[in-house]
Amino acid sequence: MRIVYLNGDYISKSAAKISIYDRGVLFSDAVYEVISVIDGQLIDMERHITRLERSLGELSINAYAEWSAIAQKLVADNGVQEGVIYLQVSRGVMHERDYRWPAPDTAPTIFAFAQQRTLIENPMAARGMRIISRPDLRWQRCDIKTTQLLYASLMKMEAEAAGVDDVWMTRDDLVTEGTSQNAHIISQEGVLISHQLDRRILPGVTRIEMLAQAKAMGLTVEERPFSIDEAKQAAEASISSSTLLIMPVVEIDGHRIGDGRPGEKTGKIRQSYLAAVQTAVPITN
Ligand code: PDD
Repeated sequence: MRIVYLNGDYISKSAAKISIYDRGVLFSDAVYEVISVIDGQLIDMERHITRLERSLGELSINAYAEWSAIAQKLVADNGVQEGVIYLQVSRGVMHERDYRWPAPDTAPTIFAFAQQRTLIENPMAARGMRIISRPDLRWQRCDIKTTQLLYASLMKMEAEAAGVDDVWMTRDDLVTEGTSQNAHIISQEGVLISHQLDRRILPGVTRIEMLAQAKAMGLTVEERPFSIDEAKQAAEASISSSTLLIMPVVEIDGHRIGDGRPGEKTGKIRQSYLAAVQTAVPITN
């Protein structure tokens, strides 16, 4: 039986219920984190907590819980060796629907669940991802990890209908990020280019470790936006996220990147990333 966490209790999936007056339900007034689990260990939990607390702060949601202990208990109780922990915090339940939230604060709604999922042996790592580009029509605070994910869902459905793996979104002709990943290219000169951290992208946890591994390999890293045209001329392209880790991108808008096979440097960064997370010291209570 799957055990989930809801507001202090560990209960069965079918017993976990929240109110239709929850602001997360009515206004997407909620933030979340997805943390990868590899070899039964939470990856980069401290960085996820830091980002969660920042997202909560940007929306003035007052919430605190033993995030790490909750995630670890769900991993243990559900026997997850490889997969993810999903953790969501909403502002809480209102008495009536109202755009403004009540003062004093409502008690936040906090829930989390574990999901078994193959992360490392993903066949996409060997074949590479095929991407199409679409305009980025999301709001302008993409740095906050809110649950307003409808545009990302629409884009993933478009990708599926087009027979490709995902979408890279562009604003003013510059790539912001993937629907649920950060986007990167490596130029013909061997420079790794990744959008700078600002309100247009989510500050990816995987991106931090990816850029560190690239630098450790001797690559120059430039944090700036790039266009789809620049990406098409690049030697390699890739994405990073907690669910896909680091994946090569081999095609953008029908144009092959490099020789159309997963890039060599991207492969090395992925390998060193995997080596780093698999030897990561487990978090203890
Ligand atoms: N998405 N950009 C967006 C828009 C994202 O939704 C995500 C993560 C990332 C990568 O961030 P990280 O490396 O911290 O996972 C970038 C998660 C996996 C999701 O929504 O399922």
